Amino acid sequence: MITKKLLNTEQSEIRKIFNMASKDSINLGIGEPDFNTPQHIIDACKDALDRGITSYVPNMGIPELTEAVSEKLKNDNNLDIPQGNIMITCGASEAIMLSIMAFAEKGDEVIVPNPGFVSYKNMTQIAEAKPVDMNLKYENNFKIDLDELNENINKNTKCIVHNSPSNPLGTVSSKEEIKGLAQIAEDNDIIIISDEIYEKIIYGKKHYSPANYTDNCIVINGFSKAYAMTGWRLGYMAVNENLNAKYDVLDHILKIHQFGFACATSFAQYGAVEALKGNQQCVKDMVKEFEKRRDLIYNGLKDKFDVIKPEGAFYIFPDVSEYGNGMEIAEKLIKNGVLCVPGRAFGSNGKNNVRFSYATKYEDIEKALEIIDKII
Ligand SMILES: Cc1ncc(COP(=O)(O)O)c(C=O)c1O
Repeated sequence: MITKKLLNTEQSEIRKIFNMASKDSINLGIGEPDFNTPQHIIDACKDALDRGITSYVPNMGIPELTEAVSEKLKNDNNLDIPQGNIMITCGASEAIMLSIMAFAEKGDEVIVPNPGFVSYKNMTQIAEAKPVDMNLKYENNFKIDLDELNENINKNTKCIVHNSPSNPLGTVSSKEEIKGLAQIAEDNDIIIISDEIYEKIIYGKKHYSPANYTDNCIVINGFSKAYAMTGWRLGYMAVNENLNAKYDVLDHILKIHQFGFACATSFAQYGAVEALKGNQQCVKDMVKEFEKRRDLIYNGLKDKFDVIKPEGAFYIFPDVSEYGNGMEIAEKLIKNGVLCVPGRAFGSNGKNNVRFSYATKYEDIEKALEIIDKII
């Protein structure tokens, strides 16, 4: 018999949407850059293959990559995390899963953003812990309500998952929010799982990590979004020295990674070294293009819907309730050739919303806006 925890977990609604797509649909549904991985990164990977790098590599990742991540964390985030405290994973997804499994089990609670990335709640359920909402509301500009968060914490709360810039909201947490969150984690001895995968896709704002304000934080990041490497399946988690010394976090997490995954793909890791150490102009160019598309879609939607101008990631999350609920509008749009995701897929607080991804061509966004205009 299939276990109850899996029977009780729904398949991703986003995958269901992809299955509804016809080949002519305009895809504002998918959450991945439409760019190819930059050529110098591909070349570094090809070179690794040519050099015969096709065997298992260390479980924690190749030393060149853990060192490059450690340097990146120092230079970009002002974090001192030695390379031994960094684990290379099969995408940020694996790192999220490992962190939740390490800190939460039956009887425990994990606070997850609502609306938030679909994996947090589902991974919590698969770990047999209880997801508890961190309510992010339009009226509050989707900001964290620190008082409400405090009220939702009890002795069973083990982790808070935080994601900035946010999928699906496109918001970027302010320094005050991050400091407040870190303080709550300190006061209650809770671990923040900080998903920073969209860190580099940010428009004129500064990215803050809770790891700068508390040791109770695991930083999760990766290569999928910043370097258009979704199919490479590479991410990482970084655990500071104090937290690691307190719980031997990485030794324990390594057990799941070792037995379940062995290591992230060997030759792909050489591409990731190049991504971090090579010229960063490719990231700047992609972000510039995303920003143009953000302006186009925001200006096209703002007169029809209540919508917050995204400051990061590549999603926009209008409230469509003037015309129907999120599910009805999304279905109508999908039937008319515009793929999008009903906000409900990201939690109950998204029921009035639709998520559009603007990681797609400028001309396609223009066409989609015309269709939205007609349908509305
Ligand atoms: C917020 C967030 N975290 C993590 C991931 C997964 O990233 P990866 O491809 O590195 O597993 C995604 C992918 O959409 C995401 O939106």
